[in-house]
Amino acid sequence: MLSLSFLLRRLWPLLLLLLSSWPVWAQEPATATPTDGPDCPEACACAPGGQANCSGRALPAVPAGLSRRVRALQLDHNRVRALPPGAFVGAGALQRLDLRENGLRWVHPRAFWGLGALQQLDLSANQLETLAPGTFASLRVLRALSLADNRLACLEPATLGALPLLRALSLQDNELSALKPGLLAGLPALDALRLRGNPWVCGCALRPLCAWLRRHPRPAPEAETLLCVSPGRLTLSPLTALPDTAFSHCGLPLTPWDLAVVYAVGPVCFLASMAACLALGSVLTACRARRRRAAARRRPRRPLNSSPSPASPANPGSPAATAQV
Ligand SMILES: *[C@@H]1O[C@H](CO)[C@@H](O)[C@H](O)[C@H]1NC(C)=O
Repeated sequence: MLSLSFLLRRLWPLLLLLLSSWPVWAQEPATATPTDGPDCPEACACAPGGQANCSGRALPAVPAGLSRRVRALQLDHNRVRALPPGAFVGAGALQRLDLRENGLRWVHPRAFWGLGALQQLDLSANQLETLAPGTFASLRVLRALSLADNRLACLEPATLGALPLLRALSLQDNELSALKPGLLAGLPALDALRLRGNPWVCGCALRPLCAWLRRHPRPAPEAETLLCVSPGRLTLSPLTALPDTAFSHCGLPLTPWDLAVVYAVGPVCFLASMAACLALGSVLTACRARRRRAAARRRPRRPLNSSPSPASPANPGSPAATAQV
């Protein structure tokens, strides 16, 4: 009995500590569920079902106070010129994001971090010229992406990364002249690719895209809008009409093994030429040293303690000259 009360007294502070921290544990998940936090960003109008309408409100940035309640965010027709890292943090349940017509120029590579549920992203009618590698890589369930009506001249495969569910990609009305070979490889589910309104240069770089277009035939009216602007003999021919033989002069693309060889040969040649130069230099130095030693051996030896300069008429004050007089 005594030992039990002793034990209780000893354990009481621990129990108190546990009890006092229990509500914190209980609340922690609650703060992350949609039932807590502000329902709607101040500048926007919200409707049931997680619709946040922030359209056309001259907003200069993504509004604060986004919660996990928001499923669809309309931010179109605002003045969001740049998206900083974690621009949509807190809106982890967002499924549709509309950023059309914002004059958007700059998107940080981690701007879309935390949007693991995003399915539709519309960035059309902005002023994007480049997009950094990894920009869309975290959007693992993205199904539709529009980059239409921007100023993109180049789109790196690493910008999109691997988007296994992406079905629709719009690149129309940009300044693209080719698509990089790896770009389509990371998009296995793609079947709607909008490409018109770009200055396609039908050279070897376009071969993978033309191959993709042959595998995914599209209705004639749209196919006719995809035209080469160069080179001369192909100007105004539709991309979809180019057979693979149009690229027979291109040669096959380099395999990873070829690339490895190319990248290995450079440094090896450099090191080998360095080594050759070093060897040649040391041989030459050794030869010269040997010749100098041989010359020194042929010269007659002088007595050790004699004056270094022999007596000469030009130096009449020297002891040797006075001895001769
Ligand atoms: C969103 O708000 C704008 C401006 O207040 C309005 O014109 C538009 O119809 C709204 N959109 C929806 C889907 O409610």
